[in-house]
Parts: sequence; structure tokens; C-alpha cells
Amino acid sequence: MKAIVVGSGGREHALAWTLLRSPQVTEVVCIPGNGGTARLPGCRNVAMAMDEVDAIARCALVNNMAFVLVGPEQPLAEGLADKLRAQRVNVFGPGADGAQIESSKAWAKDLMADANVPTAASAVFTDADSAIAYVEQQGAPIVVKADGLAAGKGVTVAMEKSDAIAAIQSAFSGQFGAAGERIVIEEFLTGQEVSVLAVTDGQTIRPLLPAQDHKQVGEGDTGPNTGGMGAYAPTPVMPADLLARVQSEVLEPTLNALKAKSIDYRGVLYAGLIVTPAGDPKVIEFNCRFGDPETQAVLPLLETPFEDIITACCDQTLSTLSAFKWKAAASACVVMAAEGYPGPYKKGLVIGGLDSAEADEDTVIFHAGTRMAQDSAQGTAQGTVKSTGGRVLGVSAIAPTFEAALAKVYSAIDKIDFPGSFYRRDIGHRVKGMASGMEGN
Ligand SMILES: Nc1ncnc2c1ncn2[C@@H]1O[C@H](COP(=O)(O)OP(=O)(O)O)[C@@H](O)[C@H]1O
Ligand SMILES: [Mg+2]
Repeated sequence: MKAIVVGSGGREHALAWTLLRSPQVTEVVCIPGNGGTARLPGCRNVAMAMDEVDAIARCALVNNMAFVLVGPEQPLAEGLADKLRAQRVNVFGPGADGAQIESSKAWAKDLMADANVPTAASAVFTDADSAIAYVEQQGAPIVVKADGLAAGKGVTVAMEKSDAIAAIQSAFSGQFGAAGERIVIEEFLTGQEVSVLAVTDGQTIRPLLPAQDHKQVGEGDTGPNTGGMGAYAPTPVMPADLLARVQSEVLEPTLNALKAKSIDYRGVLYAGLIVTPAGDPKVIEFNCRFGDPETQAVLPLLETPFEDIITACCDQTLSTLSAFKWKAAASACVVMAAEGYPGPYKKGLVIGGLDSAEADEDTVIFHAGTRMAQDSAQGTAQGTVKSTGGRVLGVSAIAPTFEAALAKVYSAIDKIDFPGSFYRRDIGHRVKGMASGMEGN
């Protein structure tokens, strides 16, 4: 079986790597892929843009690809899955209608209200004056969110009313373009955040192992938000009984609400949850695709052939698949970023030592922002790996315990020669010492 993965991040490297672990999968084409997928045996990068629908469809049909797995939200929101399906290509990923669950926070809030899914109380505004009046009435802390896709930069958690008002004014002055023409203002919730990535064929929905990530750049969860500096799975914050509640209180009702709108949703439904101090799961947001970097932590634990899960979602046969099998182990992923990230950073940094860092069989380095530079001076077929982004590598490892997985990750990082990079040394600090529940469930 051959398949296409669309995207160029660490998530897509992890998706391709997981597919290729199965002997059934003989080739993965990454469109466009990155330096890591270029180095991955069995994987081939094809330089096409993610909106070149006809070229992607031709690649899928001519090469008899079993499916196209779309990684990022932007092409899904733009209807890539619909356009490929219209050309009879099997696609994992919702159409533009279903992708609204991520591309419009107001739409998602309405859906949650229809489905009676627990979430923060909220109101939607299309002008600054009424939004400000609402904040004056509600008080702080309060959360202001641009409605549309804003690359993770559209949310302000305002501890003071003045911060909320400033966020409202900047959204309506065009800071987020069309994405900020509508805003959601919602109740501030406290508790630990957990990501539950579920897969669905539109009829049946099943969660993967729950994960947690670290969004902030600085140790102790300080400083500005990033795309994610590390992740781990499973997490003791979401034991099996709580995950069962997420299934019945969040995932199933949400899928039913999508069905009630005649939306045929085949792909990932990612619930970003907060576990309140009372122990109840509440939805912070939904995403319509695999999480990054959660995927790089979750998938190394998967024992069920990944292509079986993807195929079952595409073919609407998920209910016939036996329960997903997971390694009884813990997994962690630590991101190495270019100095300065999430602010301005240098590109083209040379990365060495990858082979020795990956020598351990339970360690894998997923590339997020790299490319292979064909270095004729060196004359090697491999070439040189150079950075192209802010988040550059995700170093993942699995081990019987969470502490051992982290120790493997950090010892691999020590072997990577990457001047001009940094990483957080405290990934997993929120669950250190919470031993129970880390075994696979
Ligand atoms: N209601 C809320 N209460 C407290 N924190 C929130 C709330 N909504 C969002 N946040 C914080 O802001 C972050 C980003 O919000 P989210 O809705 O996930 O938007 P996005 O991922 O699109 O930027 C969350 O991960 C969470 O830390
Ligand atoms: Mg989020």
C-alpha cells in the first residue's frame, strides 16, 4: 500500500514515519515534506504546493495511492478534502464544512451548544462597542478569541479588563484580517489542559491516547505562546474513567451534532480540553487535524497498524476495527527551536549528529522545520540538514516510565550538534511524581 501525506511539519514526519512502520505500507509521498521526510526510508518528497489540487489528485490516482492524509488545518479549511474527493481520491480529513469546527470558533461554540457539550460560557460579537460593554459587565479574567484561523495567535487570556479591551480593539482594527472580524468572548477556566485526538469515520469516533503539551516558550510555562515546545502521552491527568466521560460527554455528542448538520466528517476530531478543579472535562476548542507536537508523542506508542485506522476512517468501517492497541509505555517529545523563536530567528542553521542521536531504537527525531541541502562539497548522497523554521526538531522517545522516556530524549538531544538552538529542560514538569495512569490504557 502507498499513501500521500500532505504537509511539511513535525506532525507530517510523524504521520509518514508511523505509516511506514507497517510492513503493508511500501511508500509514502510527502507533499511537500521536509528534511526529515527526505531522509526517511520509504518516503519521497514531492515539491507541490498544498493548494495544487489537480496535481495532488493526479499523483494519488496515477500512483494508486490508498489515501491522502491531510496534515494541516489551512488546506482542510480551504476545501482540499472536498476537491480531492470530487476527483475520486480517498481522503483522511474533513471537508470545509466539517473543518469549520476549527476555522470558526463561533461556529464551534454553536455546535457545542446544540450538542450540549461542556464548554466555557461565551458570546459572539461583530463590533467593538458591544464586545467592550460585555467585558465591562462580565469583568476579568476573561478570554478574547478571534473567530478564524490565526496561527495560534488569535487568543488573549486577559487577567485585566484593560487587556481584554485592548485585544478587542486590535481584533476589530484588523490585526487578524478577516479572522478577527468576529470574536468570541468567553469565561476564563482554570485547570490542566489535555489534548484528546480522536479519529472518526463520521459514524464511529474513537480517542487516541490523551496527551499534554507545553505551549509557552519558557521553562515553568512562562513567556509567549509557541506552536508547542514539547508533549507527552499518555497523561495521568486523563485516566481511563475521565477519558470515558470525554467519549460520552464530548466526542459522541459532537459527532452526532455534525451528523445532524449532514456533515460527513472523516478524519481527526481533536478536543482541546481543560480538566476543571472539580474534575470535569470542558472543551477549550476543537481542531480538525492531528495536533503538533502531540502527534509526535502519541503515535510512537501505537501498535495497531496506522494505515488500518486511516483506511477505516476513509471507508466508514471504523466500527469493525478492534480496539486500538498501545504499547504499555510512556512517550515524550521535546522540541528544539532556533534561538529567538517565537520572535525573529535565523534560518539555514546546520544540524549534525542526527544519526548517533537516533541510534537508540526507541528514539526518533521528527523534523519540523528542516530541509536537506545537497552539499556537493561533502559529496554525500545524504547532504546536510539545515533549519528552515523556528521549531526545528522534535525529539521523541518511549520507555517503560515517563522519567525514562524523558531521560532518553535529553540524552539524544545532547548528541545533536545544533548551534543556535534551545529547548526546554522541564517538559512534563506538571505530571512529575504523578506515577499512576502513565501506563498505556
Ligand atoms: N476559556 C478559557 N479559559 C482559560 N484559558 C483559555 C480559555 N480559552 C483558551 N485558553 C488558553 O488559550 C490557549 C489558546 O486558546 P485556543 O482556544 O486553544 O485557541 P488557538 O489554539 O486557536 O490559539 C489555550 O490553549 C488555553 O491555554
Ligand atoms: Mg489551541
